[in-house]
Amino acid sequence: MDLMLKDKVVIVTGGARGIGKGIVDALSREGAIPVIVGRTKSHNLETLAAIGGNGFQVVAELTIPEDCERVIQEVVARYGRIDGLVNNAGENDGVGLESGDYNRFMESLHKNLVHYYLVTHHALPFLKESRGAIVNIGSKTAETGQGGTSAYAAANGGRNALTREWAVELLPFAIRVNAVIVAESYTPLYERWISTMPDPEKKLKEITSKIPLGNRMTTVDEIAESVVFLLSGKSSHTTGQLLHVDGGYVHLDRAINPG
Ligand SMILES: NC(=O)c1ccc[n+]([C@@H]2O[C@H](COP(=O)([O-])OP(=O)(O)OC[C@H]3O[C@@H](n4cnc5c(N)ncnc54)[C@H](O)[C@@H]3O)[C@@H](O)[C@H]2O)c1
Repeated sequence: MDLMLKDKVVIVTGGARGIGKGIVDALSREGAIPVIVGRTKSHNLETLAAIGGNGFQVVAELTIPEDCERVIQEVVARYGRIDGLVNNAGENDGVGLESGDYNRFMESLHKNLVHYYLVTHHALPFLKESRGAIVNIGSKTAETGQGGTSAYAAANGGRNALTREWAVELLPFAIRVNAVIVAESYTPLYERWISTMPDPEKKLKEITSKIPLGNRMTTVDEIAESVVFLLSGKSSHTTGQLLHVDGGYVHLDRAINPG
């Protein structure tokens, strides 16, 4: 299927690693021009080289509001347009109800939610011109909870709410806004998190055994293919959706053993 994304300029925050990198790869396969936004220049350049250099990278620490604005300025200076935006950068940083405090809670919201708003805010004039599309990456924790990660769960609740809110606000401009919700995908972030468990291998087995479809994790490519579809004109009447690419984790009964 031709997704009609050729030469479309699409910003992917956190595009150098993990799910974001999967999205950059998928965009590149479609002939789009991915813009990798990430805090580590060497990682950005590595990912850009891996897709043959047909794209752009901006080094930015997205918890800094000025960086969110500069990202858009640099992309527009280079290409003069923005056709799509994927808000993806973030991390499950375990700021719990008991263990956290005001500063860590607020920091986590900046890591996981505030830049979704700011990057979109600054990109909006250009998305209006192109009638572009927005995809927000979210986490199951907004709906299922996880325990010990209040700020991240709250940020993900915010990501879901902003998806619906923006879908409504941007109807007059034909800008579609959707979210792809992830449960378990083995990325560098995931590896860091699981390695903090007393027995990571045992924990991983416990987790995958509860994923209904195939008792396995979702690959970054499976997530990325859904994201590029939602960015594309092939999903031209889809907006305000929270698409769970999670092997049935959130909505099916996890007690079911497919055998
Ligand atoms: N991996 C999972 O199982 C999973 C599950 C649910 C949701 N998610 C969501 O997916 C998104 C991506 O997660 P991942 O697992 O690919 O993570 P990852 O750490 O493997 O990759 C994220 C990339 O974004 C960059 N980044 C993060 N915060 C940044 C910031 N403030 N400024 C600039 N760059 C920043 C990182 O340096 C890294 O390159 C996150 O928002 C996370 O909430 C992941």
